[in-house]
Amino acid sequence: MPHARVHNFSISLDGFATGEPQSLEAPFGHAGERLHEWMFATRFWDESGSAGVDDSFAQRNTVGIGAEIMGANKFGPPEWQDDPEWKGWWGDNPPFHSPTFVLTHRPRPPLAMEGGTTYHFLDASPAEALAAAFEAADGQDVRIGGGATVVRDFVAAGLVDFMHLVQVPIVLGRGSRVWDGLEAVEDDYGIEAVSAPSGVTHLTFTRKSAG
Ligand SMILES: NC(=O)c1ccc[n+]([C@@H]2O[C@H](COP(=O)([O-])OP(=O)(O)OC[C@H]3O[C@@H](n4cnc5c(N)ncnc54)[C@H](OP(=O)(O)O)[C@@H]3O)[C@@H](O)[C@H]2O)c1
Repeated sequence: MPHARVHNFSISLDGFATGEPQSLEAPFGHAGERLHEWMFATRFWDESGSAGVDDSFAQRNTVGIGAEIMGANKFGPPEWQDDPEWKGWWGDNPPFHSPTFVLTHRPRPPLAMEGGTTYHFLDASPAEALAAAFEAADGQDVRIGGGATVVRDFVAAGLVDFMHLVQVPIVLGRGSRVWDGLEAVEDDYGIEAVSAPSGVTHLTFTRKSAG
């Protein structure tokens, strides 16, 4: 049975997946690139990178994925909906290579990109969006790509089967937090942790009821 999975989702010690304010110049606000330095150092990101623990986890991001769901704030800076030319941060050939569903209250027609990515803009509940993504994924899994609001909403709705979070040893103090409203989420998941030499901790959450 296909699963809904989160991968490489980096959070600070205090649970923030991005800083603030988000903007065209600073997509992660005051967090800068600090949440993802561990990933930039891997072979997954750059073929001259490391092939250790961090890389092993990072590589799982794409395996068996047939579609992605992301939030409006991952797709672009505030008010990107006012720019008819905005096509996401990732250029003409985005790294998704599959149907990619962008949740927004201001949807627009689908946008076909190079390399197999088609953006579909949806104003729908998490359950409706996931049903559409599973259908598009044609038997493969769906990645819940973030940001924090979308991950939080999908976990709260009981829709996430597997989560790989990467706890980065920084304290951001402000931004968009993943844990708010998810009290006792640990009851629903089997949780494991692996510390990497880079200083990050890989946390995996596997839903107890996942088939
Ligand atoms: N740390 C990581 O690994 C990681 C991973 C991915 C992204 N990020 C970062 O996280 C930040 C974005 O996170 P975020 O929490 O601010 O926002 P987000 O989860 O990307 O998007 C939230 C927005 O999506 C729209 N939305 C969400 N659910 C919806 C629904 N059911 N129906 C219609 N629209 C819906 C709403 O926007 P509108 O009302 O404006 O349409 C909402 O404000 C960015 O900085 C991004 O770069 C970090």
